[in-house]
Amino acid sequence: MIEVEGLTKDFGARRAIDGLTFNARQGEIVGFLGPNGAGKTTTMRILTGYMPPTAGTAKVVGFDVTEQSLEVRKRVGYLPETVPLYNDMTVYDYLKFMADLRHLAEAEDRVLEALEVVNLLDRAEGYIGNLSKGMRQRVGLAQALLHKPEVLILDEPTIGLDPAQIIEVRKLIREIGKERTVLLSTHILSEAQQICDRVLIINKGRIVAEDSPEHLQSRLAGAQRVSLRVQGDADGLESSLSAVNGVQTVVARPDGTWEVETIPGIDTRPQIARAIVQAGYDLLEMRAMGLSLEDIFMELTREEPEPPAMDETEAEQVEPEPEQETVEEE
Ligand SMILES: Nc1ncnc2c1ncn2[C@@H]1O[C@H](COP(=O)(O)OP(=O)(O)OP(=O)(O)O)[C@@H](O)[C@H]1O
Ligand SMILES: [Mg+2]
Repeated sequence: MIEVEGLTKDFGARRAIDGLTFNARQGEIVGFLGPNGAGKTTTMRILTGYMPPTAGTAKVVGFDVTEQSLEVRKRVGYLPETVPLYNDMTVYDYLKFMADLRHLAEAEDRVLEALEVVNLLDRAEGYIGNLSKGMRQRVGLAQALLHKPEVLILDEPTIGLDPAQIIEVRKLIREIGKERTVLLSTHILSEAQQICDRVLIINKGRIVAEDSPEHLQSRLAGAQRVSLRVQGDADGLESSLSAVNGVQTVVARPDGTWEVETIPGIDTRPQIARAIVQAGYDLLEMRAMGLSLEDIFMELTREEPEPPAMDETEAEQVEPEPEQETVEEE
């Protein structure tokens, strides 16, 4: 259980996070999705009790992260952005060392359990320095799981992993997240879509959208798009399609298919199908295409256009491009 209200953090004059408010329940995997510098890591550091907020409150399993940070640390497992590992220790010794730091009872058993969860028992006696990046990430996860925390905070858990390892770690997180509260950060949209029950899109320290991955897609898809394939020569098709109530744009694609954009909120597909047949064409295929999560993300995090101002930098930009090819520097 994570409860965050009005959380704000300033670094000098820079506001890294700006009044964040959100909750995460037990058994829920919440994704923090945002570009570089959005404030994901800052929020996670505050939630793990490593850094106080400038304003606002954050509670983890009911404990305030500032006033009861010791209680919070007992209940939170944290996979930081870069896991501090000791290359000349074996996996087992490192985890045992971490378990002892936490004063865990039955430390040996805890280490073996954590190793089993992350599927690294066979590497327990190997040196950390000899592990692959994905295995190191799993050691980091094991470290975060040692004390059986109720809340897991994972900062970009799949960064730098190969596709097979990514699939493995995602599966592992879904498994771990069944009875715990998981907050993970990513800037990969498809990842948020695959692992998370709920996604918070964060940009410049603010939450700009919050929803289930599926809802986010349909709720924010401003206009609906329909892809069509029609039999034969379709010269007059464009005007027939444009005449359908609710159709905004009709585009013929080079591959012979058509893309129709319709106003949101109504399903125009039956009318489109009828219009095609009535105009004497055969409809071979019709497919609704929502905006991709990528499109939505761009939409939500797009910079406000700057008001036009003539200064030197802009004067430079309007100069014509040089004709010759640019030589790429090494
Ligand atoms: N210790 C610090 N001192 C000063 N500024 C900081 C500090 N930590 C973070 N910031 C600033 O706060 C903002 C948010 O950074 P943060 O690391 O939280 O972003 P992020 O969402 O994790 O980005 P990334 O995807 O690159 O990891 C950035 O502008 C960053 O420069
Ligand atoms: Mg970060």
